Amino acid sequence: MLDILNLDSLEPLARERLDPMLFDYIAGGAADEWTLVESRAAWSRFQILPRMLRGVADRSLDTTVLGTPVSFPVLVPPMAFHGLCHADAEIATAKATAAEGTILCASTMSNCSLEAIAEASGSAPRWFQLYVYRDREITRGLVQRAAAAGYSALCLTVDTPLAGHRERDKRNGLRMPSHLELGNFPRSHSDQNRVGSGHGSALAHYIAAQWDPSLSWKDVEWLQSISPMPIIVKGILAPQDAVLAMEHGAAGVIVSNHGGRQLDGVPAGATMLAAVVDAVAGRGEVLIDGGIRRGTDVLKALALGARAVLVGRPILWGLTLDGADGVRAVLAHLRSELDLAMALAGCATISDITRELIL
Ligand SMILES: Cc1cc2nc3c(=O)[nH]c(=O)nc-3n(C[C@H](O)[C@H](O)[C@H](O)COP(=O)(O)O)c2cc1C
Repeated sequence: MLDILNLDSLEPLARERLDPMLFDYIAGGAADEWTLVESRAAWSRFQILPRMLRGVADRSLDTTVLGTPVSFPVLVPPMAFHGLCHADAEIATAKATAAEGTILCASTMSNCSLEAIAEASGSAPRWFQLYVYRDREITRGLVQRAAAAGYSALCLTVDTPLAGHRERDKRNGLRMPSHLELGNFPRSHSDQNRVGSGHGSALAHYIAAQWDPSLSWKDVEWLQSISPMPIIVKGILAPQDAVLAMEHGAAGVIVSNHGGRQLDGVPAGATMLAAVVDAVAGRGEVLIDGGIRRGTDVLKALALGARAVLVGRPILWGLTLDGADGVRAVLAHLRSELDLAMALAGCATISDITRELIL
């Protein structure tokens, strides 16, 4: 079992194992990477005001997200290409996430098919993350397949009309390795990610060619009309957009800047969270990701009104270092940090975590 002191310690270990081009793709952000760094730093600006003598001997981290029970309020966000990290790819992540009692949101850009990921999840709940393709029949096909494979929510990522300006990937000429496929698509899609159209990142070229930058709120209504699954909108920062998501029928939003990989210079999710929670005003659930590396970060997010959080890159570092067991170790570590943080802050249950905990 991977022996984890803290989640930050995993990145340098994974770096030793990975091809530098692939490490950079995972670790990197857009442009100057200001938002990438800020997303981690912003959590440290909130202080926790703990309460004492509240009887914390019996603690429970159980909660629900969109009505689905989870063993603790940490989910695995959609991330492309788990096959870069380990031969078992998303199958390993799905098994590990299920074993830890929480939810994997499988990316459109997975190396394994969404059906294979569903099978690996067994009876555990799973979500499917959707990128909307210019070819709406491709989009419709993905939605129908996800519903048929038992996914219980559709996570619509809205911050990626085009790929962010990821300089590491441009410099490295990012290409998907020849042994990996895009599991949800015909082979021609994988080939586009290997060859690209000349310079720079093949992934950026693929996104420009395939994804629909004309996407607008009315398309969210179209998706509702073809999806039996509730929709959660991922990539919201402005409270006004959270309100629009509610008005267009979303069940929730994920406050996110895509791990600092899209528009550099945008605020950390942590900075916007409380305002988004206030704007949503209980009409849906608010989740958050970006730079969450500590149990205390999870505690702060919940105190600011998030229903749950998602933790990204550390999952991929765990996968790189020890496959499914590594992913389990990352989730188990974060669970134990959250459990301790709750005890020390005077919270025996998730519902004890309220905004008064934040100074
Ligand atoms: C390697 C990598 C691939 C990603 N791929 C996707 C994706 O396919 N779809 C998506 O909505 N977000 C994607 N994201 C963004 C994550 O879902 C998430 O918002 C972000 O990683 C959270 O920040 P953190 O890594 O600091 O925890 C990706 C992030 C990384 C690091």
